[in-house]
Amino acid sequence: MTNVLSHTAGTPTIPSDSGRPRRVVVTGAAGFIGGHLITRLIADGASVVGLDRRDPACDVAAAQSLGEALGQPAFTFRRVDLTSPGWEPLLSGAEVVFHLAALPGVRPSWGPGFDDYAMCNVVATQRVMDVAIQARVPRVVVASSSSVYGSTGGGPTSETVPTRPLSPYGVTKLATEALALAHAQRHDSATTVAALRYFTVYGPRQRSDMLIGRALTAALGGGPVVLYGSGEQSRDFTYIGDIVEATIAASRTQASGAFNIGAGRATSVREVLRVAEDLTGRPVPVTAAPAGDGDVPATLADSTLARDVLGWQPQVELTTGMRRHLDWLRSYPIGHADATATA
Ligand code: NAD
Ligand code: UGA
Repeated sequence: MTNVLSHTAGTPTIPSDSGRPRRVVVTGAAGFIGGHLITRLIADGASVVGLDRRDPACDVAAAQSLGEALGQPAFTFRRVDLTSPGWEPLLSGAEVVFHLAALPGVRPSWGPGFDDYAMCNVVATQRVMDVAIQARVPRVVVASSSSVYGSTGGGPTSETVPTRPLSPYGVTKLATEALALAHAQRHDSATTVAALRYFTVYGPRQRSDMLIGRALTAALGGGPVVLYGSGEQSRDFTYIGDIVEATIAASRTQASGAFNIGAGRATSVREVLRVAEDLTGRPVPVTAAPAGDGDVPATLADSTLARDVLGWQPQVELTTGMRRHLDWLRSYPIGHADATATA
């Protein structure tokens, strides 16, 4: 499948008098990226409604993600499942909807778990977009993924490279962005859409199934990292603060299309383990496991379009970002045990 998602650079416009979104909705609010985004939006003066099916009152990771926002007057949390009706009025009056809710992991998307991926990533997006168009929300920023590309050969990947996802998860993320952009083309649409193809995100509060948190946790004594395949596979690991800034930047323009959001540097899994050892001064114990289906050999973003159209550039290089991630893990004792869980 080729990338049919055209990009239209519009004149940058700002959806509120103050230069900032006044009322925004974040789906996937209790997630890793959602929590960081909400903290930044509140600091920016926005009034934020966060939607998630996880309840911070009884889910430790959700409570951690939303910890800085819960109780603040500018933030309202609503526990909703986007695949079930009832939440639609919450989008009324929103100037921006940040649609981040999804099931995110590559590995568990094979097998019977796929039904939930199809519901949360495809059906929920269809509903969010339908409601956003009807509510005449001017701007939707939707989380897509580097996994839409599949195997790219290792060079920098621009948005013109054909999308050939290799995992069920990647297929659902391609559907997510295609659906969102299709809705924006409806005759009754007053909505523009940016689909942000995030490349492997890390930093404080990273999901416990992901490599960098697991490697640092293993070095801190949390049990071995399962190393899938040779460890020579590489990723364009991108710091959470850079992801948040790109997401905010995308909300402040009306440019439509898909944008890569990546740090622009490929690092192998083995190199990550070495950096974790250097930063902690301790070995990272490893257990070998076969490479997983859909685990692509390499990702590397060409984010020129985001630079030119959104005015965004990555700022944080891997060692600095991993040091911040490590500092957070050290300050959060129960995270260690959690991070050894199998995805
Ligand atoms: P996360 O799992 O921490 O957050 C996603 C949140 O969405 C969760 O809190 C979950 O409960 C919620 N959610 C899922 N289905 C829902 C539903 N039906 N109704 C309401 N809430 C629902 O994941 P994350 O790492 O923060 O990822 C956020 C987004 O970014 C996802 O769309 C993911 O595909 C995308 N993404 C993440 C990365 C990464 O490296 N973390 C990279 C590329 C793309
Ligand atoms: C990540 C996220 O999990 C997805 O949500 C996201 O969509 C995707 O990035 C993306 O960029 O689009 P992934 O790249 O697999 O997926 O991120 P990690 O889980 O951190 O894995 C990175 C590499 O380390 C993979 O090759 C994986 O096989 C390997 N790994 C991961 C291990 O060897 N052991 C682990 O315990 C975890």
